[in-house]
Amino acid sequence: MYNRKQIMLIIAALVLVCACQRAGVLDQLRDDGQIVESSQIALIDQSVKTPAINYAEYCSGCHGIKMDAFVDRKWKHGKTDQDLYKAIKYGYEDEGMPAYDVSFSDQEIEDLVDFIQEGIANVDEYYFENRQNKSNVYPSEALTVMLDTVSTGVAVPWGLTFLPKGDLLITDRSGKIYRQSAEALIELTTVPDVVAGGQGGMLDIELHPDYEVNGWIYISYAQPNPENGEESATSIVRARLRDNEFSDHEVIFTALPYSSRKLHFGCRMEFDREGYLYVSVGDRFNRDVNPQSLDNHCGKIHRIHDDGSIPDDNPFVETAGAMHSIYSYGHRNPQGVAMHPQTGAIWSHEHGPRGGDEINIIKKSKNYGWPVVSYGINYNGTTFTEKTQQEGMEDPVMYWLPSIGACGMTFVNSDLYPGWENNLLSGSLRFKYLERAVVEGDNIVHTEKLLPNIGRLRTVEVGPDGYIYVAVEDPGYVFRLVPQS
Ligand code: HEC
Repeated sequence: MYNRKQIMLIIAALVLVCACQRAGVLDQLRDDGQIVESSQIALIDQSVKTPAINYAEYCSGCHGIKMDAFVDRKWKHGKTDQDLYKAIKYGYEDEGMPAYDVSFSDQEIEDLVDFIQEGIANVDEYYFENRQNKSNVYPSEALTVMLDTVSTGVAVPWGLTFLPKGDLLITDRSGKIYRQSAEALIELTTVPDVVAGGQGGMLDIELHPDYEVNGWIYISYAQPNPENGEESATSIVRARLRDNEFSDHEVIFTALPYSSRKLHFGCRMEFDREGYLYVSVGDRFNRDVNPQSLDNHCGKIHRIHDDGSIPDDNPFVETAGAMHSIYSYGHRNPQGVAMHPQTGAIWSHEHGPRGGDEINIIKKSKNYGWPVVSYGINYNGTTFTEKTQQEGMEDPVMYWLPSIGACGMTFVNSDLYPGWENNLLSGSLRFKYLERAVVEGDNIVHTEKLLPNIGRLRTVEVGPDGYIYVAVEDPGYVFRLVPQS
């Protein structure tokens, strides 16, 4: 244990470190539209120590500029006002939390507690327990929708697509693919072998844009390494469906290297208007090796032709040692990819570490920063990187703090939902709802949480009939959203 003199010395050193860091902290605050008050710090009389200033000066270095470490936290010592007060005043020296009884008056500590409590209150809006919906009618700002159950019995419906006559194809992460007709749920045969476990298994499914002509169906999955069945890689096979049996299989893409970690497969697929296929691949939980290096496929979004060949104008075709399918890099685990119906741009969202799920517009050759810049924090509550921005790295269009576990993404490209036209929809695994985002140009100007408590929302699609379909898991349901007039 330290004696009091040593503690004072440590505090003095810390205050000095904080003061030195301060210029940098203020710069970052100034860039950040969300902390408007704090952004005025430079203009405020330095003798007026508001809680925002005290927080920025004394706490942000360890707990994050946006209280990142407190948002969505498993509190060790409780989160009541008294608990926070005690922590700040007396510290937990053994754990590395300094005591501030010499730095602050009791009033200043109380103000700081209020400031932190307000700052983390935004997390609570995600918990819908008190708003449990007993019916299947969900009002929203723009219109009310009713849920119509389309399918039950698929445990983890990961991907959805629609055959021209209206039947639904549904993947089950466990390794199966089903066809849901108006009458029955039929298991399809001769599907690819998958490594089912963790986050891997049978994943996304898409029809070729000229499906009626060529019959190709694209399936993404965790493919076993032929030399070591414990390892898997995000792969895409295309095949044709005849009488509920797949045939003509062609594996057109495999994201190397294989890994024994059953995490961060990514795996969403989307065709753009010109027929390029975009494929998201997660970092396979190897953040220090994969996402920033072009010599592997993981932590990237790829662009390939429908047969898996590489477009001549892909950004890294001339780069020695680079994987030629790479279109953008520095991604963590993108679980949503969708084309904007008006601009044709590819949008994507990805999971941040804890807090910091992002929405990005995917541009050729761009670096999206993971893990160098991030709005997230480590699972142990420490800030992961001080940096949220860096020259040469793209800023997200939007990010979620806390992390919602974004999964599945689509634009509302039909006119059945007045007020939702061209809105961007993202599922939330963690908070069990659907996020509606109003997009203007390249910006998101408004969001609303739809379908509170619907279930772990895995995927969302607009069918050829113009209706929005969502799939939730455990128990697995596919619902159609029917607008009420
Ligand atoms: C030198 C780094 C550092 C600084 C500066 C710092 N803290 Fe801490 N704080 C910690 C550590 C380490 C813990 C222990 C818990 C953990 O491991 O995250 C902690 C714990 C806490 C806790 C208890 C959390 C819980 O889970 O119960 C609170 C509240 C807290 N700090 C508030 C503050 C406030 C307010 C400031 C600014 C006045 C501040 N801290 C400054 C490192 C720091």
